[in-house]
Amino acid sequence: MYGLLTILGLTGALALNPPYYANLTWEGARTLSNWSNLTVETRTGTFIGFLNDTYPDVRQFLRVPFAKPPIGDLRWLPPQPLDKSSKRIDSTRFGPACPQYVATSDALWSEYEPPSLLLNIGEADNQGAVAWSSAEDCLSLAVWTPAYANKTSSLPVALFVTGGGGVSGGIEVPSQLPSNWVSRTQEHIVVTINYRLNIFGNPKSKALDETSLSLLDVRAAVEWVYENIEAFGGDKENIMLWGQSQGAALTHLYTLAFPEDPLAAKFGVISQPPSVTINMSDTTDVYADFHIVAEGLGCNYGDDVDAELECMRQVSWVQIEEYINRYNSSPSIAFTNYIPDERYIFADEEARYQAGKVARGPAIRSDTSREESVVNETKTMEVEEQWVCTAFQDSVRRARLGLDTYRYEWSGNFSNISPVSYLGAFHWSDLMMIFGTYMTDAGEITDLEVTTSHTMQDFILAFLKDPQTVGATVGWPLFDAEAPHGGLILEFGNNTAVKNITGDFLEAGCWNSSYSFPIYEPRVSS
Ligand SMILES: *[C@@H]1O[C@H](CO)[C@@H](O)[C@H](O)[C@H]1NC(C)=O
Ligand SMILES: *[C@@H]1O[C@H](CO)[C@@H](O)[C@H](O)[C@H]1NC(C)=O
Ligand SMILES: *[C@@H]1O[C@H](CO)[C@@H](O)[C@H](O)[C@H]1NC(C)=O
Ligand SMILES: *[C@@H]1O[C@H](CO)[C@@H](O)[C@H](O)[C@H]1NC(C)=O
Ligand SMILES: *[C@@H]1O[C@H](CO)[C@@H](O)[C@H](O)[C@H]1NC(C)=O
Ligand SMILES: *[C@@H]1O[C@H](CO)[C@@H](O)[C@H](O)[C@H]1NC(C)=O
Ligand SMILES: *[C@@H]1O[C@H](CO)[C@@H](O)[C@H](O)[C@H]1NC(C)=O
Ligand SMILES: *[C@@H]1O[C@H](CO)[C@@H](O)[C@H](O)[C@H]1NC(C)=O
Ligand SMILES: *[C@@H]1O[C@H](CO)[C@@H](O)[C@H](O)[C@H]1NC(C)=O
Ligand SMILES: *[C@@H]1O[C@H](CO)[C@@H](O)[C@H](O)[C@H]1NC(C)=O
Ligand SMILES: *[C@@H]1O[C@H](CO)[C@@H](O)[C@H](O)[C@H]1NC(C)=O
Repeated sequence: MYGLLTILGLTGALALNPPYYANLTWEGARTLSNWSNLTVETRTGTFIGFLNDTYPDVRQFLRVPFAKPPIGDLRWLPPQPLDKSSKRIDSTRFGPACPQYVATSDALWSEYEPPSLLLNIGEADNQGAVAWSSAEDCLSLAVWTPAYANKTSSLPVALFVTGGGGVSGGIEVPSQLPSNWVSRTQEHIVVTINYRLNIFGNPKSKALDETSLSLLDVRAAVEWVYENIEAFGGDKENIMLWGQSQGAALTHLYTLAFPEDPLAAKFGVISQPPSVTINMSDTTDVYADFHIVAEGLGCNYGDDVDAELECMRQVSWVQIEEYINRYNSSPSIAFTNYIPDERYIFADEEARYQAGKVARGPAIRSDTSREESVVNETKTMEVEEQWVCTAFQDSVRRARLGLDTYRYEWSGNFSNISPVSYLGAFHWSDLMMIFGTYMTDAGEITDLEVTTSHTMQDFILAFLKDPQTVGATVGWPLFDAEAPHGGLILEFGNNTAVKNITGDFLEAGCWNSSYSFPIYEPRVSS
């Protein structure tokens, strides 16, 4: 895959931080609120939320299960709908993230982002072992609404799918907590979901009918939100499914997998990697990786894949996750890219588009100007071309079907977010502006940075409320590659909060090979 692994391994192997254990000081008993406005009844349970003193105008429901726990016999099966229940559920604390491990090498995210709540039990950000706050019973989502919201509010819903290369991430990632955004606008709801990761979300076992469980988890979350969000004050007919990185890839795949009944009215594809679908003609045995893990854990049943799977269901998830973490042999193994099963994941996406098999809603497609920023500028731009041209190509395919796409490019270079000179607008850094979490990154914050964040929040909200009018309300032009100069794309954060740039300027190399990247040089005088 185009990997974020480049970035993950960026700083090389630094010395491990010393083992560190949190000071779990006893904090005194808490009481759950009995206020009716913090108590939300749904078909699957009654959720008790809370107000955080920092943002008292935002109601938070941090743990809302949306499917049965995928444990025991349900491990490696598609998510199962929850039964009707009136159980009172404490939603004042995050549920566990899905099983994942923390790499040994420092990564951009561990170095420059605010301390991670994923590591909230005190482990080091390069501990090289299972994240202590992850667990297999992880299929929950979180809901943030304005405090005043009630079941008559009918607010638009931004349903976010986090990134993390298909192997890490989840609701608790601090840069992606939306309190600041919801508090500022008081006009929308944000939902963020967990979905199964790594071998648990992508079990490439021959014994299984469905292996694209990460995508099916996203679907289950959308179904739950569609069924129940009204009770929180949401409008189920106005859900935007959006995601970043692997979450963008899953959102993109979702539009192709559920064309007839997407349940979401609009989409946001923020920094989609060039592809997360396995190229079968490049792969000798797509089931080999699962088999290697099974064999390594003593589940060696030769060709009896059913026995192998059953055996693997008995192994502790910690052991499985740690086996993959520590595996350092040949052939290499990976559970990041998905098998094209031709039911949910399709090898030939062009054919899906041509057959009109894509969800109808309008979509945002965006990139950052230095997705995989490294010191080597040539390398940075070579990779950038792949990402930008992916957004361009999908926008063109959508336009052929009459589907609207709105583009943006994030080019901000603010010193508290990008403290090292080559970093610039690196992958994921736009999320800090949209969620309003840039201020938790230590360092100087300029007025332009604040204005740019507000502008990005307002543009995304305008799209969420009504894509048809964003041209008029905020000046976000519909992308049209056929228009003069290759169409218009917004650029955020380049010396001004927002401006238009042209396709010629950004991505001429996507359609005219005489323009090689690096991009961002005037191609055609305008
Ligand atoms: C743990 O935190 C408490 C309260 O902040 C403090 O009184 C105590 O000394 C700390 N314990 C250690 C071992 O640091
Ligand atoms: C709600 O909680 C308060 C204390 O926090 C208590 O006085 C009151 O009786 C409770 N009301 C109900 C209906 O349980
Ligand atoms: C309230 O929110 C702030 C900022 O997001 C966070 O630092 C703090 O831990 C939260 N407090 C609680 C009790 O969740
Ligand atoms: C929620 O309910 C409590 C208790 O009835 C009330 O004091 C508070 O003002 C309400 N908050 C909102 C935003 O309606
Ligand atoms: C819901 O909120 C609106 C606006 O804040 C308020 O006018 C209405 O009375 C509330 N409805 C209920 C059922 O609480
Ligand atoms: C898949 O791999 C084959 C063989 O390497 C290659 O010819 C083909 O272009 C690849 N397909 C895609 C969609 O990348
Ligand atoms: C920079 O990247 C380019 C393209 O990948 C590569 O050809 C070149 O050798 C790299 N330069 C250095 C100094 O590593
Ligand atoms: C970001 O800004 C710093 C400070 O002005 C500058 O030194 C650096 O070259 C910029 N980086 C990029 C990638 O534009
Ligand atoms: C971008 O250009 C369009 C078309 O000229 C215009 O309507 C819109 O206001 C511009 N947007 C910005 C942010 O300047
Ligand atoms: C590609 O760009 C070159 C240089 O500007 C130009 O001469 C050529 O006509 C362009 N080709 C196409 C197909 O637009
Ligand atoms: C920022 O804008 C200037 C022109 O104002 C342009 O030369 C530069 O390439 C842009 N930078 C990026 C990263 O888009």
